[in-house]
Amino acid sequence: MESVKPAIITGASGGIGSAISRALAEDGYQVCLLARHKDKLDKLAQDIIKRYSPKHKPLVIPTDITKAEQVNEALDAIIKKFNRVDLLFNAAGLFKLGTSDLSLDELNELLAVNLIGVFNTIQAVLPSMKKQKSGHILTMVSAAGKQSHPKIGGYCASKFGLLGYIDSLNKEIIKHGIKLSAICPGTVNTNMTKDITWLKESERLSPEDIVKTMRYILSLSPSGLISEISVDCAREREELGKAE
Ligand SMILES: NC(=O)c1ccc[n+]([C@@H]2O[C@H](COP(=O)([O-])OP(=O)(O)OC[C@H]3O[C@@H](n4cnc5c(N)ncnc54)[C@H](OP(=O)(O)O)[C@@H]3O)[C@@H](O)[C@H]2O)c1
Repeated sequence: MESVKPAIITGASGGIGSAISRALAEDGYQVCLLARHKDKLDKLAQDIIKRYSPKHKPLVIPTDITKAEQVNEALDAIIKKFNRVDLLFNAAGLFKLGTSDLSLDELNELLAVNLIGVFNTIQAVLPSMKKQKSGHILTMVSAAGKQSHPKIGGYCASKFGLLGYIDSLNKEIIKHGIKLSAICPGTVNTNMTKDITWLKESERLSPEDIVKTMRYILSLSPSGLISEISVDCAREREELGKAE
């Protein structure tokens, strides 16, 4: 029987999620595309079919990751269809400026998507991955989950929390054959960073840099694990160097 390797991508319609979805489809995965807006996911699915003629049509499942019941329903649909899940790529995320001027509602929104939302998706895939005794969960954290910067305290709080959670879980579930990898890049050229003016587009990382990072992580032997990887933006490092 032909083996299907289902991969779930959250935030699949975003700058990084769409590049990752295309790459996974190209690499032979059955991609399951999650985000809230169906129209964008449908467009991406059509584009994937046109470009890569995948053996299996992308599955589009509009899902708000802050709602655990929606995430669980999406997982049920995937398991019912394919009976397994090999990979979860957490790319859904939210960016907002603000530290002392951040309202409680804004902080709650950041935590709901960047921390609780990822918790929801990981909780949903773990039972199947444990049953299979295999699986890989890759999560977009950020350089802002390792080093704080002024004016983005809420975003940093959500990403520092996320990295702590993933690192702890990693040590707990590796015994089940499940790998967790946290990706911590600097500024990537996507819609999320369109308002950043001090970095030229050419000075930012590209979504393709994240695709290359994912392929590197996945290229290791079963005994190898990249738990955490930093992908720095050279120009940002230069600025940090000046400040020291
Ligand atoms: N761009 C950067 O510089 C950078 C750097 C480091 C880390 N990151 C992280 O990388 C990830 C991807 O970023 P990006 O630049 O690709 O962002 P993006 O282009 O703004 O895409 C964000 C994606 O998340 C989805 N999303 C937002 N809220 C959601 C929710 N509640 N439920 C489900 N999906 C939701 C959006 O789709 P819908 O609106 O349709 O739901 C969209 O597909 C994020 O976690 C971000 O924090 C980005």
